[in-house]
Amino acid sequence: MAGSTVVDVVILGGGSGGYAAALRAAELGLQVVLVEKDKLGGTCLHRGCIPTKALLHAAEVADSAKDSAHFGVKATFEGIDVPAVNTYRDKVVEKLYKGLQGLIKSRKIEVVAGEGTLTAPDTVTVDGRAIKAKNVVLATGSRPKSLPGLDLDGKGVISSDDALKLDRVPASVVILGAGAIGCEFASVWRSFGAEVTIVEALPHLVPLEEESSSKLLERAFRKRGIAFELGARFQGVKTTDTGVTVSLESGKTIDAELLLVAVGRGPVSEGLGYEEAGVKIDRGYVVVDEYCRTGVPGIFAVGDLIPTLQLAHVGFAEGILVAEQIAGLDPAPVDYDGVPKVTYSEPEVASVGLTSAIAKERGYDVVSVSYDLAGNGKSQILQTAGAVTLVAQKDGPVLGVHMVGSRVGELIAEAQLITNWEALPSEVAQLIHPHPTMSEALGEAHLALAGKPLHSHS
Ligand code: NAI
Repeated sequence: MAGSTVVDVVILGGGSGGYAAALRAAELGLQVVLVEKDKLGGTCLHRGCIPTKALLHAAEVADSAKDSAHFGVKATFEGIDVPAVNTYRDKVVEKLYKGLQGLIKSRKIEVVAGEGTLTAPDTVTVDGRAIKAKNVVLATGSRPKSLPGLDLDGKGVISSDDALKLDRVPASVVILGAGAIGCEFASVWRSFGAEVTIVEALPHLVPLEEESSSKLLERAFRKRGIAFELGARFQGVKTTDTGVTVSLESGKTIDAELLLVAVGRGPVSEGLGYEEAGVKIDRGYVVVDEYCRTGVPGIFAVGDLIPTLQLAHVGFAEGILVAEQIAGLDPAPVDYDGVPKVTYSEPEVASVGLTSAIAKERGYDVVSVSYDLAGNGKSQILQTAGAVTLVAQKDGPVLGVHMVGSRVGELIAEAQLITNWEALPSEVAQLIHPHPTMSEALGEAHLALAGKPLHSHS
């Protein structure tokens, strides 16, 4: 089939961005070839979102067992059987992987296994086979990055990929970086019984979130016995008989069994023929416009390979955007301000829209209100602490929603409708939220912002 003919689309990389482009393009009647060197599903399904969230769920079960007496339930927590946790996790991944393969097959997408390179602006070559296409989508994703001079040896100094391969709970861990990866692994390992210290260069955990959310997470982590060094510069690491000694520029040293490096993920673009084909690269990222078009006609790029938010759901949206353009539709570009973000630690941190700092920078006259989960019945039932913070334009729409608490990630979908539809606080205040749910906290925050607080002291 493909090889002698010119197909409509060839996609290089079968992760979230690439396979979403493939599915949507096929749905629109295009002939699609998807090239993947490893497994369809990419980082998200095999080394990211899904396996880590399974670990976080196991952590929640462990916490429930440990805290059961608090709820009057007699249970004994005996420990974590890491191989069994991994089996549960891998079964979840395997089931989704099978489902994805079935979906790809049912849409008649040709999957070519192997490492592809761009050998001409309209050609991807895999193991000597040239696949010519009217359109090419680059979707080769990202990999964990490190700091200059800090080698990930996979033993004492590890990446998130290595962390998922561990067959034991480390006794102690230093985690470099307090973004989503750092905070999620800190949360899992602490629930599993490890001593955890996070080292973050910026002044807060999850530093890109609303400052009040960071502070609430810091309070919760402190309570959970997770240590952190904020505004701390990493200096170096030495391997010892028992693990590693991490030194900070302040002169402080921390001994631990492992150092997890979680300082971000870098694009995979080297040696794939991109620049030779005329595609512009900046710091490893493929440069694109708002429609994910590279400067080369017919070549698009999506997902972690481009310098937009490195989130699976952003990859999906970019893949769909590209497929629809190729099919001749007129889709709207992705609105990156409107993308919901969740850090799935315990407690969770969820947000959508602008932080108050960014809203002020953009010239808005900002008002903000925080609704403490202490006033929310379901949160008390779950015994979680946190808040819903709203950022709005004075006498105008809601610009951002920021939440901390167990399970608040599930509330962000409603929040994104509010910000993306530019709802006024008074309009949301009209909507009745079911009692007793955590979603009520979102309703209560809007009641407060609309000037008619109900279960709220402010
Ligand atoms: P990140 O960029 O979100 O966070 C890295 C953190 O490391 C930053 O806070 C940074 O200030 C800090 N850092 C950098 N250099 C440092 C140094 N020398 N010393 C101390 N701290 C230093 O990257 P992360 O957490 O590795 O995640 C990678 C990507 O994957 C991100 O885009 C993230 O959003 C995404 N991801 C999303 C998840 C989710 O949505 N739940 C889960 C996991 C990853």
